[in-house]
Amino acid sequence: MATPTEDRIRNVSLRDRICFAPEAAALIKKGYRVGMSGFTGSGYPKLVPQALAEHILREHSRGGSFKISVMTGASTSSELDGALAMVDGIELRMPYNSDPTAREKINTGKMEYFDFHLGSVAQYVKSGFFGDLDVAIVEVTGITEDGRLIPSTSVGNNQAFIDCAREVILEVNHYQPMELEGMHDVFEPPMPPHRQPIMITRPADRIGSPYLTCPPEKIKAIVETDHPDRTTVFKDVDANSKAISRHILDFFEHEVKKGRLPANLLPLQSGVGNVANAVLYGLLDSDFKDLTVYTEVIQDGLLALIDAGKVDFASATAFSVSPEVVERFKQNVSAYKDKIILRPQSISNHVEVIKRLGVLAMNGCVEFDLYGNVNSTHVNGTRIINGIGGSGDFARNSFISIFTTPSIAGRNGGISCVVPMVSHVDHSEHDVDIVVTEQGLADLRGTSPKQRAIQIIDKCVHPSYRDQLKDYYQYALNSSPGKHTPHMLEEAFSWHLRFQRTGFMHKS
Ligand code: COA
Repeated sequence: MATPTEDRIRNVSLRDRICFAPEAAALIKKGYRVGMSGFTGSGYPKLVPQALAEHILREHSRGGSFKISVMTGASTSSELDGALAMVDGIELRMPYNSDPTAREKINTGKMEYFDFHLGSVAQYVKSGFFGDLDVAIVEVTGITEDGRLIPSTSVGNNQAFIDCAREVILEVNHYQPMELEGMHDVFEPPMPPHRQPIMITRPADRIGSPYLTCPPEKIKAIVETDHPDRTTVFKDVDANSKAISRHILDFFEHEVKKGRLPANLLPLQSGVGNVANAVLYGLLDSDFKDLTVYTEVIQDGLLALIDAGKVDFASATAFSVSPEVVERFKQNVSAYKDKIILRPQSISNHVEVIKRLGVLAMNGCVEFDLYGNVNSTHVNGTRIINGIGGSGDFARNSFISIFTTPSIAGRNGGISCVVPMVSHVDHSEHDVDIVVTEQGLADLRGTSPKQRAIQIIDKCVHPSYRDQLKDYYQYALNSSPGKHTPHMLEEAFSWHLRFQRTGFMHKS
């Protein structure tokens, strides 16, 4: 281990719970509901889920059946979702997955998946809507002398899971820098009718404690690990992402000129994925400065903005960075501590705070339609890619809600990401202000459905699909029984059926 146990587990009385992963995994029984730490591949338990997967495999090879339900903050990694999915050990997964093995099991009907707004998970757990939680498995950076838990690289739903679970297993990860201590702000809102306003008026406001807390008697096992997070490898910033970024920056400049946004904008939120990361990089070369961020994940692009002095402060619930950036981060954690807070996802994604701060929300999507409805999750309406994540928390409550996608996708650009009618709705037209592709930006604020369609076709559609979408719109305008949102349903559906028939599927 990178550091002595005494430095990581400073509470002497808890040291007698230290054990190996298989012993800890044996505490988890068939049918259990288990809450695990982890958000966008960071701060998830690395050893116990793998030991559990091995146990499940042995049970299955003896002819038994062993499945559990797994809740997390958001996505984890092959050591958690991948390992458990590989052995068909997950009955129901929630609220977010991006692991390819688990995705395949979900899309082939072997695993159930509840894809849900990340900001509301803790409330559902605490209310008992998901049933009782048996065990929480939480990665921490260390344990203080008085038994408080130093969170890791994500906070997620950890406090809610610890509070609600009957038993707790901790993974103390020696890989995580001890300097993380103090970076977090843990506050879990009480349940109604005891709620009070969340007193965050700036992204830098602190309202809680740097530590997670857990009654010592609940802690049944402590496993020491020394493993890095999954880390995210981003695609190089390509021409499309650069163009999308440019359109958004031009839009922000325009809004500032009009006096509708302050010169340093409003707190930014940026979603997950390559395009979102590229948009952040775009801000590096812009004239914007003194920016603040109220978001869910800290990606490479955001750390670059902090390094460049463009972003004064960032609030999030987790890191999701590339291997190179992890190293840089680890060497400079203390410096970042004045610039970053990690909070529970019930606060990073809290609708009241998002609304109060007037967050500018920028999220990627799979496709959007002529009227501004957005699909963030499904290919051809049936195969899920990841999940809605926090995009709904932000889109509905932001000051301006922006969705981005390249105008075409798939092999050889064989798919238009602008369609007559989305094949799955995650964000309805009522929550979408701006849509952007590399072709251009359509400002949908205050427009009727027909005005939206005309703008979207002109500004966002790839030239190779423009005529087809124009034809569709014209046909719908002439023949649709209702003229408010003109549609010809058979033609709208057949747009997607073409791809289903030709067998295009997103690779899992
Ligand atoms: N049809 C089929 N496949 C599509 C598609 C479409 N209309 N649009 C995108 N894809 C595929 C791409 O081809 C790519 O596949 P590949 O990995 O095999 O190359 C993949 O989806 C990702 O697309 P990319 O253009 O690289 O975008 P991205 O990395 O920015 O991710 C989402 C886009 C939508 C998948 C991602 O933003 C997401 O999961 N969003 C939902 C959750 C969310 O918004 N969270 C943020 C809240 S804070």
